[in-house]
Formats: sequence, structure tokens, C-alpha cells
Amino acid sequence: MSELLQTELCGIKLNTPIFAASGTFGFGEEFENFVDLKRLGGVMVKCITLKPRRGNDGIRITETPSGMLNAIGLENPGVETFLTKILPRIKDKMNVVVNVSGSSVEDYGELARMLDVDGVAAIELNISCPNVKDGGIIFGTDARQAAKVTAAAKKATKKPVIVKLSPNVTDITTIARACEAAGADCLSLINTLMGMEINVQTWRTTLGNLTGGLSGGAIKPVAVRMVWQTAQAVNIPIIGMGGIRSAEDAAEFFLAGAAAVAVGTANFAEPSVTMKIADDLETYLRGFGLKNIRELVGRLKT
Ligand SMILES: Cc1cc2nc3c(=O)[nH]c(=O)nc-3n(C[C@H](O)[C@H](O)[C@H](O)COP(=O)(O)O)c2cc1C
Repeated sequence: MSELLQTELCGIKLNTPIFAASGTFGFGEEFENFVDLKRLGGVMVKCITLKPRRGNDGIRITETPSGMLNAIGLENPGVETFLTKILPRIKDKMNVVVNVSGSSVEDYGELARMLDVDGVAAIELNISCPNVKDGGIIFGTDARQAAKVTAAAKKATKKPVIVKLSPNVTDITTIARACEAAGADCLSLINTLMGMEINVQTWRTTLGNLTGGLSGGAIKPVAVRMVWQTAQAVNIPIIGMGGIRSAEDAAEFFLAGAAAVAVGTANFAEPSVTMKIADDLETYLRGFGLKNIRELVGRLKT
């Protein structure tokens, strides 16, 4: 592995600062034939809840200009099955970041406690899912609630706690500061932007859930802006995401202040895209005479 991209985040050694974003990469093993999983910083696995969930009814994904709208509804097998059946299979293959969602502060504490086990590199609190009523969005849009959830998780685990922020707020820095003050080790942003599509022939929404989360290339400028604002507001590291499809896209996030990035929607179109981004990012760094990715972080000139 090239030293150019080797870095560290919350005490976790990363071969590259490129993660796979939650909900777009299954449990990682589905991508084994396309990606060298050890070359990823880690895989943020599909969101886990206390009880299994079957997700939303009807159409769950639709393509939009330069992006997609999804309302999966947090379908997952539940934490017990994850711990007994899935984690043992994947834990030696990659850095496993477990994305969790709850409908109460206590749920997040309980999930963090249960996941404080060997093979889990970090826990990512999804306080920002816009697609289910109890999907945490309420925690992600209210600074006091966000702090409570963060504190509950921190109390329950020794693992690094990453809080995933919602872009569906007026001022993301208020929430970011509240999470940092409550003990968050890292922030990840952004989750999807709430959107909607209407079929003008049927006069119904395309998605069964009526609204969904917009992701992909279309949201990148919003995400870069929010990462930049958040990087000015906090001292903990940031994992930037939203519309990354190339090394140049990733470089924007590093310049804005992200210590690492995650790739989501682009994996659907090109399952090996993270490897191409890693290769091209090395070339990009060499082109500027940089010895390590850390030399790019926060270097935006204003
Ligand atoms: C189909 C789909 C499912 C997702 N599921 C989750 C999830 O379970 N938990 C979560 O925190 N984010 C989830 N996300 C959000 C992504 O992890 C990411 O934050 C967002 O899509 C922006 O990145 P992108 O534009 O590269 O996809 C999902 C996104 C998509 C497209």
C-alpha cells in the first residue's frame, strides 16, 4: 500500500482515507469481487437498528438528474443477527464502521453498548435519516437532542463515536458544536437532502414513502460547503461525503477540511469506483509534490 494515502482517524489506522458510505455498500462483502476491501479506510455498513426492519413499501429508489432519490426505510436484520451472523464473517476483511439508528436516546446507548465488541472499528450514529418517521432525523435537527444521543453512545462504548450530521438544517455548525461538546470523536457529513418527485401522469409521487433523500453528484456543492463550514467550527476530524465520483471531487472535500471521505451513490454506477479514486488521488498528490494526504487537508485558499 502506498504511503501517500496512509493516515489515521480516531486512532484507527487507514490504508486510504476513502470509506464506503452507509447504505450504498451493503456489508462490504458484496463488493469483494470489485474492490480490495483492505485498501478502503473502512466500510460504513448499512444502518443497524435494535430490532429487524423490513423497510418502506413501494418504489424505494429513483434516478434524478445527477443523482438519486431513495427511501429505503432502514431495512436491516437487527443488531442481534448482525453480531452473531454478519460481523464474524466480515470483521477480518475490513475496518467495520457500524452505522446505527434508534427512535430514542436510550436506543442509541443500547446499540453502542452492544456493539462495543471485537471487530467493530467505530460506531457511526445516524441521527439524520430523512426517510422514516423514527429514523433519527429529529435528533439530527435539534442541537440538544443531538448532544443527548452523542453523550448516551459515548457513555456506553469505548469505540470511537462518529456522529453523522443531517444537511436538512439551517445551520449545521450549531449541531456540530453540540456533538463535539458532548464527546463525539468525529463527525461525518452529509446525509441525504430531503427531496420529492411527482409523476405527472399518475399524479402520485414516484417513491412509496412520498419523500426521499437526494444523493449523488447533484448534492456535492452543498456537501463541500457544509464540510468547510463545519471544519471552521470544530476541532474533531470530519469525514466528508456527498456526490463524490472522482479523485478531484474527493480533493475538494480534503481542501475544505475533511480528514477522510466516503463514497456512496457512485458505487451503484461503478462498483470499483473507490479504487479508481484512490489511484487517481495518489497521482493528484504527486502532481502537487505532496508526500501524504494530510498535507492537503484544510488547505483551501480564501
Ligand atoms: C440507497 C441509499 C441508502 C442509504 N442508507 C443510509 C443508511 O442506512 N445510513 C446512513 O447514515 N446513510 C445512508 N445513506 C446516505 C449515504 O451514506 C450518504 O451519506 C449520502 O448518500 C451522500 O453521499 P453520496 O452522494 O456519495 O451518496 C444512504 C444513501 C443511499 C443512496
